Amino acid sequence: MRVLTGIQPSGALHLGNYFGAIKQMVNLQESSDLVIFIPNYHALTSLKDGKALRDNTLDAAINFMALGIDPNKSTLWVQSDVKEVLELYWVLSGYTPMGLLERAHSYKDKVAKGIAANHSLFSYPVLMAADILLYDSEVIPVGKDQIQHVEIARDIAIKFNNDFGDVFTIPAYKVDEVVATVPGLDGAKMSKSYGNTIDIFCSEKELKKACSKIVTDSTPMEEPKDFQTCNVYALAKLFLENDEVVALQERYTKGGEGYGHFKAYLQGLIWNFFEEARDKRAYFLSNPHEVMDILEDGAKKARKIASEKMIHIREIVGIYR
Ligand code: ADP
Ligand code: TRP
Repeated sequence: MRVLTGIQPSGALHLGNYFGAIKQMVNLQESSDLVIFIPNYHALTSLKDGKALRDNTLDAAINFMALGIDPNKSTLWVQSDVKEVLELYWVLSGYTPMGLLERAHSYKDKVAKGIAANHSLFSYPVLMAADILLYDSEVIPVGKDQIQHVEIARDIAIKFNNDFGDVFTIPAYKVDEVVATVPGLDGAKMSKSYGNTIDIFCSEKELKKACSKIVTDSTPMEEPKDFQTCNVYALAKLFLENDEVVALQERYTKGGEGYGHFKAYLQGLIWNFFEEARDKRAYFLSNPHEVMDILEDGAKKARKIASEKMIHIREIVGIYR
C-alpha cells in the first residue's frame, strides 16, 4: 500500500510535531510503501526568502532522518526535484471547478486573517492533488486541517477518470484519532503560532527554560497534587511506559514534591529521549553532501514513477510529447 505524505519545511520541530505526526510516519515505514517529500513549492506560497527556504528544506530532511525516517525503508525527496508535478498541476487545473477552490478553508481562513491572496495560495490544493495523484498514492495521513485538500484531490481525480477511464488511483485520507493533542506550555494545543512550544532540537539550557515556563497551579510542595489537570504530567506521560506512569501518579498523589521537581524530571525525560536523534542530526549537519545524495536517490525513484505516469497522461490529453 502506498502511503504518501508531504511535510512542510517550516523550521524548528516541537513535541507536538513529533508525537502528532513524525512518530506515526516512522512506524508506517515498517508496514507500507511510505513516500515522503518536502513540499518546497508549497512553501513558496508563504515564504519569500530564498535562503531561508533553501536552508529549511535541507534542515527538514535532516530532522526527519534524525528522528527515524530511514531512506532505506521509505523514499524521501524534495518536491521540486520532480518537475512533472508542475506539469500535472496544470493538466489537473482544467478539471478543477473554481467553486471547489473557493470553498477551501485554508484559503478562506488566510484571506479572513488579512493575508493578501495571490494565485498560488488559491491554487495550492491543485498542486497538492498533483502531488498525490502523480504517485498513485492510496492513503494520505493528514491532520484535520488537511482533510479537505485530500477531498479536493479525490474530486479532481474522479472528474478526470470520468473522462479518461481509470487513470488515477482515488486517494483516501487517514486521520489518526488516537493521537491526542499535545499540550503546550500554557496547556493550549502546542503550536508554533501560539509560541508555546518545546522544541525537539533546542539546547539543554533552552529546554530547561521552556520546562520552567510550563503553567501549573499553586498547590504547596507538601500537599498532594492532581496529576490529571497538570500540564507537566500530560507531557511526561508521552515518554513513559505504563508502570512508570503509575509511579509518577503516585509521586503526585503522595505530596512532598513541588512542581519544580516534576519539571526537572520532565526535562530529563525529553533530553534523554532525543539523545540519539541529536547525535544523528549533528552527524548529518556536518555531512550535508550525504543528505543531498539521499535526497537525490529519493528523487530518482520518485521521478521514475512520475515520468511513467506523465507519459500516459500526456498521451491521453493530447500533449504530443
Ligand atoms: P504548528 O501548529 O506548530 O504550525 P503544524 O501545523 O506545522 O504545526 O503541524 C505539523 C504536523 O504536526 C501536523 O500533522 C499536526 O497534526 C502535528 N501537530 C502539530 N501540533 C500538534 C499538537 N500540539 N498535538 C498533536 N499533533 C500536532
Ligand atoms: N499541505 C500540506 C500541509 O500544509 C503539505 C502537503 C503538500 C501535502 N502536498 C501534500 C500533504 C500532499 C500530503 C500530501 O501540511
